[in-house]
Amino acid sequence: MGEKFLINLDNQILNILNDVGIGGVICGFSSLITESNGVFLKMVGKKRQEVVNHKIEEFVASGDREKISKIMEGSLKNRSCGTPGSSLTHSIVENLDDSLRTAPGENKINEEDDAYPVEVELENTGGRDKKLWAQVRFCRLNDSQNGEKYLFTFIDVTRKVLQEKKDRNEINFLRNIITTSVEGIVAADMKGNIILFNKGAENLLEWKAEEVIGKLNVSKLYPPGVAKDLMRKLRSPDYGGVGRLTNQNIIGIAKGGERIPVSLSASIIYEDGKEVASVGIFTDLRERTRLQKKLEEMKLQVFQSEKMASLGKLAAGVAHEINNPLAGILLYAHIIKKKASRDKSIMEDTDRIIGDATRCKEIVQGLLEFARQREEKKVVVDLNRTASQGLSLLVSQAIFRNIEVIKELSPDIPKILANPTQLSQIIINLVMNAIDAMPDGGKLIIRTLKSENDGYVKLEIEDTGIGIPPENLPKIFDPFFTTKEVGKGTGLGLSVVYGIVEDHRGKINVKSAPGQGTTVTIDFPACEKGEILF
Ligand SMILES: Nc1ncnc2c1ncn2[C@@H]1O[C@H](COP(=O)(O)OP(=O)(O)OP(=O)(O)O)[C@@H](O)[C@H]1O
Ligand SMILES: [Mg+2]
Repeated sequence: MGEKFLINLDNQILNILNDVGIGGVICGFSSLITESNGVFLKMVGKKRQEVVNHKIEEFVASGDREKISKIMEGSLKNRSCGTPGSSLTHSIVENLDDSLRTAPGENKINEEDDAYPVEVELENTGGRDKKLWAQVRFCRLNDSQNGEKYLFTFIDVTRKVLQEKKDRNEINFLRNIITTSVEGIVAADMKGNIILFNKGAENLLEWKAEEVIGKLNVSKLYPPGVAKDLMRKLRSPDYGGVGRLTNQNIIGIAKGGERIPVSLSASIIYEDGKEVASVGIFTDLRERTRLQKKLEEMKLQVFQSEKMASLGKLAAGVAHEINNPLAGILLYAHIIKKKASRDKSIMEDTDRIIGDATRCKEIVQGLLEFARQREEKKVVVDLNRTASQGLSLLVSQAIFRNIEVIKELSPDIPKILANPTQLSQIIINLVMNAIDAMPDGGKLIIRTLKSENDGYVKLEIEDTGIGIPPENLPKIFDPFFTTKEVGKGTGLGLSVVYGIVEDHRGKINVKSAPGQGTTVTIDFPACEKGEILF
């Protein structure tokens, strides 16, 4: 067997590779090419003379060149085919067979060397208009007479690589959509193990993805029983179709236990008709709920002030009409009482007339107060002083049994422009209501502070009494609304307070929890040096 045979054999190998569409290159130890087949020349867009005596790396894109030397090193260490003594033809066929067995698109990983075979981008210098990738295999040829000789095979895997790139881009794109979505996206397998938890879900539910993926059951993100109910709805045709669920307003449970109102749309993912996972998209409803609540409050306020305005007109009309006849009744009752000074029973009867008529007069007074019929003069007032005075007026009486009175008067509040008598009236009415609400004793706090509303001063009367049921809250400012027994309350106290607060361009707000207590808050516009600032 001379060199001629070997050369012929090299050509034979290259030809066989050529016939099956595989690029083939034979080179020496320093990767200098001694021969190449046509497929390789076509791949690199070169002529034979441009390839022979050039290093293989020159035809590989610069970023991938290292891979070539790596497979040479790796293969020489681990898998030299055609080892001395073995049949060269046999080893080549084995190598070729190996190359062919691994179809393009299939990445056969050698257990001994992960880098084998490698995929490289070929250098694009030959006027090719598109990029080209090849799967490269390497093999040492047994040629003891001519020193080391190596065979490189190149299989065109461009389609596969481009497809992989496209798939990767698509996956990254989809992953980006999921990751950056402001909506919370959570996926779980059919056992409820969380398998996906995006940033939106992290922000909404306060869990970090790594704390829940594979560690937390999805049912823990809902109140007890809800996850089961959602799965039932998902499988039912009645909520947007089988496997789909749209816009369910439910409660999500955050890591700290906070209950968060969310809208949930969910779907089941099927593979070959089998349920494999469920995906839920959570929309945070807190802001929407807050705005809705605010809107409702504002609507209620508008309704309340409109109602009060018309009630005020009515009350003023009635009060005027009754005031004169009442004065007459009282006058004549006194005359009768005087004339009947010796008849005790007539005197008792007239006393009752006088008593009832006086009470009527007080009610009329209250109505007029509410209707703001009396224009009162306003002066610069220290709210703290008026509050203290109003309170001491009441404290001296025996009504504060078992009630602890706490004054929390903030020393640095601005003065307000107000009518001191009306201000005392507010305090007396509110304190009296608080006392009535605590028949078995409790705590009464009278508080003044700077309001968070800039330019306002706050007066708060807080009690630990029976509270107001939610259904009564919209009615408490109505004239004559009372829950107190007949003869005890007229139901005018808060109406009068409302009228006075309106007259002072203030705002009144009542917060109450039945069984726990009530806080009435009034914001008065602050003033400096006797001047209202806004
Ligand atoms: N601090 C409070 N705690 C519990 N309920 C209250 C409180 N303040 C007011 N209310 C409820 O609001 C109703 C109306 O109060 P309002 O002061 O207008 O009338 P009243 O106290 O019943 O009678 P009046 O004040 O004319 O003697 C009360 O009857 C009571 O049901
Ligand atoms: Mg009252």
